[in-house]
Amino acid sequence: MKLKIAVLPGDGIGPEISRVGVDVMQAVCDKFGHEVSFKEAVCGADAIDKVGDPFPEETFKTCMEADAVLFSAVGDPRFDNNPSAKVRPEQGLLAMRKKLGLFANIRPIETFDCLVHNSPLKDELVRGADFICIRELTGGMYFGEKYQDDDKAYDTNYYTRGEVERILRVGYEYARRRNRHLTVVDKANVLASSRLWRKVAQELAPQYPDVTTDFMYVDNASMRMIQEPRFFDVMVTENTFGDILTDEGSCITGSMGLLPSASTGEHTPVFEPVHGSWPAARGLNIANPLAQILSAAMLFEYFDLKEEGALIRRAVAASLDANVRTPEIQVEGGARYGTKEVGAWIVNYIKEA
Ligand code: IPM
Ligand code: MN
Repeated sequence: MKLKIAVLPGDGIGPEISRVGVDVMQAVCDKFGHEVSFKEAVCGADAIDKVGDPFPEETFKTCMEADAVLFSAVGDPRFDNNPSAKVRPEQGLLAMRKKLGLFANIRPIETFDCLVHNSPLKDELVRGADFICIRELTGGMYFGEKYQDDDKAYDTNYYTRGEVERILRVGYEYARRRNRHLTVVDKANVLASSRLWRKVAQELAPQYPDVTTDFMYVDNASMRMIQEPRFFDVMVTENTFGDILTDEGSCITGSMGLLPSASTGEHTPVFEPVHGSWPAARGLNIANPLAQILSAAMLFEYFDLKEEGALIRRAVAASLDANVRTPEIQVEGGARYGTKEVGAWIVNYIKEA
């Protein structure tokens, strides 16, 4: 297969983990005889500094011409505590989602046995938890009409039937490929937008008789996630709720640095770590590249290249078993491995597999 990949390293630790992601993809493609090409483009604070726009037209074009985007992270503290900043790195991320029509954000919440002890939850509670959160990514409050003056402000949680239906269908398709259990998370006891979600879901459910559909209020879902995370198989929800719940999800696994995600929709799909740009670690060679590497696995799997994805997952599991780990997850007395060293070990595993 021929693969054209747009590479968007972004900010902070982004460039370091991006390099590892590219090396791993190249090694997998060499092994399986795929022809892969990479084209880098700027985004985030890096792009603001260079061209004054966090998602420049040129980057958009590179993404549109590619089969997939390997994205790393954006965000820079220079903008965080400055509410009057005119442009911010995060706007680049939102622009990318909107312009590429990435309405479905797939975030697996998966636990790794050897890291369960890092979870803030009790081992017996969280071990084996494995679900997918499907977050609607181009609608709701983040994109609805906004207003702000010195005395009042609002954001509009606007959703159309079409937007709701297409993301619910993504949820059902994932549920069908997993344990056929879909939980629709909303706040239908208070929000009109949520009542539309629930109505559309109730209409769609009979078309998926093989899937059990249940409904849960978001406040309850946030509680259930820490009390009984194994309850969930596939969860589908709107943009804001999904943003919040997926942060909760990534932290209960105890392995935030290992979680990848995919955003798919109308144009080129994007694969990126769930974690952010960790500016304080920039250039220190300590960032965990595994979420980026597993994003590459999701990328291959998206194109139905299952063996390629599986090989990456095996390599990651082997590195963890061999205690080839970055400092934040290294075992006591374990050797010191940086971003590059973990990457090189995994590339080597792939070559020798
Ligand atoms: C995420 C991030 C973004 C979001 C921010 C950076 C705009 O937190 O991908 O979850 O809220 O969508
Ligand atoms: Mn978020």
